[in-house]
Amino acid sequence: MKIDVVLGLQWGDEGKGKIVDVLAGRYPAVARFQGGPNAGHSLHFEGKSFVVRSIPSGIFRKGSINIIGSGVVFDPIAFRKECGQIEDFGIKPQDKIFISKKAHLILPTHRLLDAANEAAAGKGKIGTTNKGIGPCYTDKVSRHGLRIGDILAPDFKERFEALKARHIQMLKDLSYDCDPDKEEKDFLEAVDFVKSFNLIDCEYFVNDLLKDKALLAEGAQGSLLDVDHGSYPFVTSSSTTVGGVCTGLGVGPSKVGKIYGIFKAYCTRVGSGPFPTELFDETGERLRQIGHEFGAVTGRPRRCGWLDLVALRYTAMVDGVTDLIMMKSDCLDDFDTIKVCTSYKIGGKESQVFPFDTREEIVPVYKEFKGWKRDLTGIKDEKDLPKEFTDYIKFIEDYIGVPVNIISLGPDREATIEKK
Ligand code: IMO
Ligand code: MG
Repeated sequence: MKIDVVLGLQWGDEGKGKIVDVLAGRYPAVARFQGGPNAGHSLHFEGKSFVVRSIPSGIFRKGSINIIGSGVVFDPIAFRKECGQIEDFGIKPQDKIFISKKAHLILPTHRLLDAANEAAAGKGKIGTTNKGIGPCYTDKVSRHGLRIGDILAPDFKERFEALKARHIQMLKDLSYDCDPDKEEKDFLEAVDFVKSFNLIDCEYFVNDLLKDKALLAEGAQGSLLDVDHGSYPFVTSSSTTVGGVCTGLGVGPSKVGKIYGIFKAYCTRVGSGPFPTELFDETGERLRQIGHEFGAVTGRPRRCGWLDLVALRYTAMVDGVTDLIMMKSDCLDDFDTIKVCTSYKIGGKESQVFPFDTREEIVPVYKEFKGWKRDLTGIKDEKDLPKEFTDYIKFIEDYIGVPVNIISLGPDREATIEKK
């Protein structure tokens, strides 16, 4: 069977958690393949809300197991806290979560290094989530990292001390004032907690499952934050695009099935970096308030702007998206006019290419649509959608060349229309 994939096509926070939660009922297993607790995936069901960070968004679906893959970076302290919250929902995490031995460990000193790097970067800072993601992936690639499987080794404590000593030297070099021992006790206790889980050989585990079961891979962050294809250097440190599924889980591309690309009907971004359609006026503020655009992880207000089809077509291409999923269109219900960016003007020249250097002065060219001015929440059948709204979707489908097959009209699981 195949592994279907859910990917964010913008700068993160597209609503991946909701869609994975909706789709997870159809898959026996959900897997995270990259990123770590920098993700904040919000789920709303049966009047309850929850934000998952390291744990896949299939956790609340009966019968489905949840895999934390080899490409993930894993913070035992954050994971233990998250498990505690899940237990309050009557779920025993050890029964449902399987963790790859090859996922890399985020140490407390990785988090300190993240903060130290940002402080040292001054105005050029990335605006990271401060979860130690970049420093942990840096250690992985420079071959200094510690992995989940290492916690079972008799010399784990010495290896941990050696890596910590390396980090302390780096913190000194950055003149960063902090207490590197502060969270050590918590960390070592959390590592013991992780030992109570099934620690798996992810590659065999996933490929064995695929012999007779379909899987859902849950992307974190968005494709424009991909370390290779995103708006570098203002990106995260992992492969958020479709290739990350293969490297992060250990499956061949022939095993990949549907590729769901999720986008919001407008754009948001947290942290620094280019954002061609960003709005600095009251329309931007209106989007932020209506869409509750404040970070699920950091609480930071998100930057808001109109939908950018140049960027969206680029990421849909990079990801080979087969099905588009549009989120939060209900947030535009009250707008008289809705804009979408159809090309960029760079140095006076118009282009539909997402440029190499996104720091260049980009002037978005917009197409305007008449608003539908109707409350879309509660609509269950695509036949009942207003014409202005279906015209808007048709334009997006034609521009990207991929059908919009799922439309979300509110945060709850039930507020979802699937086109027949
Ligand atoms: P989900 O999965 C939105 C952004 C940060 C920063 C940059 C690098 O909820 O969509 P990092 O801590 O990863 O080194 O930060 O990436 N970022 C996200 N933005 N949603 C996310 O995750 C993000 N994860 C990281 O704000 O600009
Ligand atoms: Mg988020």
